[in-house]
Amino acid sequence: MEKGKEDYIAHCLILPYPSQGHINPMLQFAKRLSQKGVKITLVLTKFLHKTIQEFSSSPISLETISDGFDEGGRAQAESLAAYRKHFRLIGTETLSELVEKHKTDFAVDCIIYDPFLSWVLDVTQKFGLVSAPLFTQSCAVGNIYYHVYKEELKLPLLETQKIVIPGLPLLESSDMPSFISVHGSHPESFEMVLYQFQNLEKANWIFVNTFHKLEEEVINSMTKFLPVKAIGPMIPSMYIDQRLMDDKEYGFSMFKPISDVCIKWLNERARRSVVYVSFGSLAQLGAEQMEELAQGLKMCNEYFLWVVRSSEESKLPENFSEETAKKGLIVSWCPQLEVLAHKATGCFITHCGWNSTLEALSLGVPMVAMPQWTDQSTNAKFIKDVWKMGIKARIDEKGLVEQAEIVRCIKHIMEGEEGEEIRTNVIKWKEIAREAIDEGGSSDKNIEEFISSLMSNTS
Ligand code: UDX
Repeated sequence: MEKGKEDYIAHCLILPYPSQGHINPMLQFAKRLSQKGVKITLVLTKFLHKTIQEFSSSPISLETISDGFDEGGRAQAESLAAYRKHFRLIGTETLSELVEKHKTDFAVDCIIYDPFLSWVLDVTQKFGLVSAPLFTQSCAVGNIYYHVYKEELKLPLLETQKIVIPGLPLLESSDMPSFISVHGSHPESFEMVLYQFQNLEKANWIFVNTFHKLEEEVINSMTKFLPVKAIGPMIPSMYIDQRLMDDKEYGFSMFKPISDVCIKWLNERARRSVVYVSFGSLAQLGAEQMEELAQGLKMCNEYFLWVVRSSEESKLPENFSEETAKKGLIVSWCPQLEVLAHKATGCFITHCGWNSTLEALSLGVPMVAMPQWTDQSTNAKFIKDVWKMGIKARIDEKGLVEQAEIVRCIKHIMEGEEGEEIRTNVIKWKEIAREAIDEGGSSDKNIEEFISSLMSNTS
């Protein structure tokens, strides 16, 4: 029998910002809430909906709204500023229509949204709904942006400046998100990250994809001015607890994963013998950097699984795949969580996107940090110096990580006695991450608190 509104605790719309790194944690949160009895409708832009390569059915319903660019999404807009302006205007209208539409069947109680879309708060206020922005980057990064937004941290930074922000370790300019360290480099992205804080104090809940023990100091410091609630790590619970296989089907990908090939290849490799290399869904390496990385992987003579998105493929050195076929596998997209969870994976060369960082941390894979832009340098600083879960590849005077440095980093993690502390730490963090989202853990408690408040709202 079909379920009615009375069968659910509440009905939440979940609206992610349409990029892979922002969708993944939102979808995981959707699943967690759904498992706890909340009706979830995932709201995608029309264009994003068309481009989905993989979304397996689940109790989560799908609906669409328009960002004004139904044929090409962000790529169709002439600039990020133009895209955001349209999304705000047309999104407000179409999201309101969606809320209206459900008034007679599954009346909406709450909207959970990416703070990049902070205009959603106006929609929640118009309809008297609960508003719950979910920050998909770290609390440390949110704290930095907040201090810039409040003009408590003045820009531009000096190259040698030591940055003191409550709740954070002493930071160098190079540890800051790129929109801040290279002030003026991406003015429109910079505007967007600061926009997250507009009207934020009016939101009913402020969620962050992190967990308490991971960012204890910064969370404690931030809660003095923003009541942030850590609810992460937002990775499928089956990876945290092997008994929870039910989660596996709810994948969502904008790229087509080459699943069988990767896993079959990994199955043939020895324990912790493979270097996994990926730079996420957006970062673009320069041709010279690609060359250095490729030669480093070749020189190192370890097995490697390298994700090179189709748009980046032309930068691979000629005949590289053929020449390294005995040692390496290059794919355009992989099931990253399965790869990180695989016993053959021993090291992760990563751009330090926040999802990749949390995934490696939760699955116990040591990292070689090669941050590229946005929040990644800050994540790299924490990986190396705070959580001690990896090392950071050194950059030469031309701004490149040279091949010899790639080899040094891999050997450090995979073989050296020096890597022992890191390999011990990853086991510790994996356990702490699991505890946070297990029943009764710090993140689980925060989610339960949210659900209880939804229940009292709707009863
Ligand atoms: C972007 C930003 O770059 C990142 O810094 C920010 O924190 C979030 O938004 P992205 O660059 O895509 O994200 O990196 P990341 O946050 O690591 O997200 C990538 C996601 O794609 C991860 O969940 C990862 O598991 C997944 N992925 C990546 C795959 O499933 N397969 C792949 O082959 C590569």
